[in-house]
Order: sequence, then C-alpha cells, then structure tokens
Amino acid sequence: MKKVNIAIIGLGNIGSSLFAHLRKNRDLIRKQTNVDLNVKYVSAKNRFKKRKIKVSNKKWLKSYNLAPYINDIDIIVELIGGSEGAAKKLVFNSIKNKKHVVTANKALISKYGDKLAKLAEQNNVNLEFEASVAGGVPIIRSIKEGLITNKISKIYGILNGTSNFILSQMADKRMDFNNVLYEAKKLGYAESNPIADINGDDAKSKIQILSSLAFNSLINRSKINVEGIKNIDQIDIQNAKLLGYKIKHLAIAELKKNKLLQMVHPCMVSKGSYISNINGVLNAVIIEGNPIGKFTIQGEGAGPGPTTSALVSDICSILRGDINPPFAIPNKNRKKIKSIDISNEIFSCYIRLDVFDKTGVLSSITNTLSKNKISVKRLIQNPFRSKRFASIIIISHKIKNSNLIKATNELSKKKFVINKPKFLRIIKT
Ligand SMILES: NC(=O)c1ccc[n+]([C@@H]2O[C@H](COP(=O)([O-])OP(=O)(O)OC[C@H]3O[C@@H](n4cnc5c(N)ncnc54)[C@H](OP(=O)(O)O)[C@@H]3O)[C@@H](O)[C@H]2O)c1
Repeated sequence: MKKVNIAIIGLGNIGSSLFAHLRKNRDLIRKQTNVDLNVKYVSAKNRFKKRKIKVSNKKWLKSYNLAPYINDIDIIVELIGGSEGAAKKLVFNSIKNKKHVVTANKALISKYGDKLAKLAEQNNVNLEFEASVAGGVPIIRSIKEGLITNKISKIYGILNGTSNFILSQMADKRMDFNNVLYEAKKLGYAESNPIADINGDDAKSKIQILSSLAFNSLINRSKINVEGIKNIDQIDIQNAKLLGYKIKHLAIAELKKNKLLQMVHPCMVSKGSYISNINGVLNAVIIEGNPIGKFTIQGEGAGPGPTTSALVSDICSILRGDINPPFAIPNKNRKKIKSIDISNEIFSCYIRLDVFDKTGVLSSITNTLSKNKISVKRLIQNPFRSKRFASIIIISHKIKNSNLIKATNELSKKKFVINKPKFLRIIKT
C-alpha cells in the first residue's frame, strides 16, 4: 500500500485537533483512500508548551522552516495563521519544493492566493484551502466540483461564526457584546486574536476567496466596503426585533453588468428569511446560478471539529491522487474583473439617532435627511426614562449609499445628537 507522509505545522486549536483526528482515524483513511497516511512531523513556535495532545519527540522538527526541504514529507499542512511571516514563508517554500500544501489560512489565500496558485501549477502540486472558508461547510468543493459549469451571478451568506454567535447570543439571551465575546473565546469559537472576526476582515477574506472561485476570476481586493459588528448594541437588536427583522453579518459578492460588487456588513434581514434563522456558530452560503437556481449550504463555521473535517477532506483529495488547479481552472484562464464601489448602490435603511429631547430636533433631522434625498418610510420616537433624551428610529425608503453616509455624517455634527448615528442596511435575501 502506498504510504504518504504529512507534516502538521502549527499545533494550536486546529493543528492539535487535526493531529488527534489523523492519529485516531489512520485505519479509516487507509480504507477510504487506499493510502497509509503517516503524520511524520509536527512543529509549532514553542515545542515545550503544554498541549492537549501528546506528541513523541521524534516527530518534532527543530524549526518549521525545515519542513519544505525534508525529502520524506509529501504534504505540509500550514496551521500557523496570518498572511505574512512564518505562514507565508512556509507555504511559498513548500510549494517551490514540490510539496502539496493544505491550509486553513484565509488571510494568506485572500492575499497571495493568485501567486500561490500559479506557483502550485508550475510545480505540479496541490494547494487546498477548503478549511479557509466556512469551517466544516464544503463550499469550496461545491463550487469547484458540484456546481461546475454553472453561471453564478451572486454568492452571499454568513461567513464568520464568531460574529454570528455573538449576534445570536445578544438577541436570544440579551447579553452584552463583551460578555458574549468572552464566552466565544472560552468555547474556542473566537480565534486567539478576534479582531479580524469582529471588524469584518475575516469575512472579507472569505468572500474574496469565494467570489474568485464563483466567478472564475483573480482575487479582487479593491473597493470592498467592510463593516464589523462592534458598534451593534442591545438597543439595535431589540429595535430590529420590534420591526420584524434580525441583525446578521453578511458577506455579499454579486456580478452586475460584468462588474463585481463585494461588501461585508451587518444588516437587517426579514425575520422569516432563511438566513435570519442561521444562528450560533453556524455559517450559511447561498449561491444564485444557472442552471442550479438557488443553492444553499450551511454548517458549523468555526472551531476545531468542523475545521478538522474540512482539512481531512483536502488531505484525502490529495491522497486520491489528482492534481488540480487550486482555483479549479488554470490560472491563466482566471480573468480580472472590475469592481463596483458601494456608493451608488441603493438600500432601504435603519437609522438610529440618540438625541436631546427638545423642540426643533425632529425638524432639523428631517431637513438633513431630505437635503440628502432620504425619504422616510417610518419614524419612531422612543423617549428614555429620564425624558431628557430620546432615541429616534428611522426606516428609509430606498436610498443611495453615498447619501446615507453623507446624511449620517452631517447628523453626527449636530449639537443635539448624543452618540454617533447608527445605521444598518436592510437586505432582502
Ligand atoms: N480556530 C478556528 O476556529 C479556525 C477556523 C477556521 C480556520 N482557522 C485557521 O486555522 C489556522 C490556525 O488557527 P488556530 O485557531 O489553530 O490558531 P492558534 O491556536 O493560534 O495556533 C497557531 C499555531 O501556530 C504556531 N505558531 C505561531 N507562530 C509560529 C511561528 N512563527 N513558527 C511556528 N509556529 C508558529 C503556534 O505555536 P505555539 O502553539 O507554540 O504557540 C500555534 O501552535 C489559522 O490560519 C486560522 O485562521 C481557524
């Protein structure tokens, strides 16, 4: 039976889980692929750190840097993370030295995926990254294989499990943002540094990878509007409920007249919609295409178990022996697509203004809105208990994004406005 050696570089949350899974399931993998997969080497930053798994001394590499140059390694799994430094060096050197690479690193793939794909093709090796998007949900393989030849016009969904967990807990348990974030870290849903989850950068990397696969294009990094969830508070969550919506953090990529619109932001979605019921750490992706129509897929989007599932699927695909271009089609056939800025896009919006409750305030607000071509569909005024303050909630008719930004900037300068105005786009899904 053919024997294949693998090195796992990075033994944190995910690397440890993968190591344990491969050790436990060696027989099963043998049966399913007809290959004996041996975890030959591991490496991490600090060899002496206490870990959940026991690794024999002989498996430890002195440095992760050595892995690309060791002859008896066939596959290198990069689980360090980050788009630069050790992870970048390891993946580039591994491919240059004709090692197959599996990674869960969306930051690296979204930044260097094009260069790496070219290099992998030149060196006739696989570069697999199913685990980089939506954890255990096999969305990348679905686009590359299951939906092959479909003309995809739109791909969108919930791509950050941590943000979705936080928004769901805030809605269901009326917990504060910081308390839920703490819980997410304890459960291993949030990465050690959760900033990229919270500010939207993680979902941005993922939608860039997905749109490049869906539209057979090079990765497009320009003109993406990215907003995270850190400004959403209980008042917005409860207001959404009262208005018949839920707040969800969505990543959206759409082809419009052969140009690409990509955006990542929290938004209000109708309570009855499919996406509004994707809760907790779940991710969901929706694809609109021809001839498939509407395709949906959902599952756990973060954490060691789901991510390990995706990594093993990549590893087994390599064991089965096919060498495929990383982005499904040869790199030279992937085209550049021009991108569209969000400014001229049209949305209906929720705007919340916390103001001193005094005469003239309402007329000043409506004047600013109408000056910016924002017409009001609904206006609710909620006085706070002290009666000195009020929260004004506006649901607008469809308005241009640039007008929304201009109006909220103007309103934030008014003396009667207490906090920075909040807004959420209302998205029909
Ligand atoms: N956590 C998730 O739910 C999740 C889901 C999907 C994808 N991912 C991706 O999976 C990857 C790993 O995430 P993780 O959560 O496992 O991260 P983690 O727990 O922080 O683990 C990172 C590992 O990399 C090692 N490392 C850091 N710097 C290194 C260096 N300079 N040289 C060698 N090793 C180094 C660390 O070593 P020490 O242990 O010695 O410190 C640690 O073992 C990331 O790309 C992440 O985006 C994570």
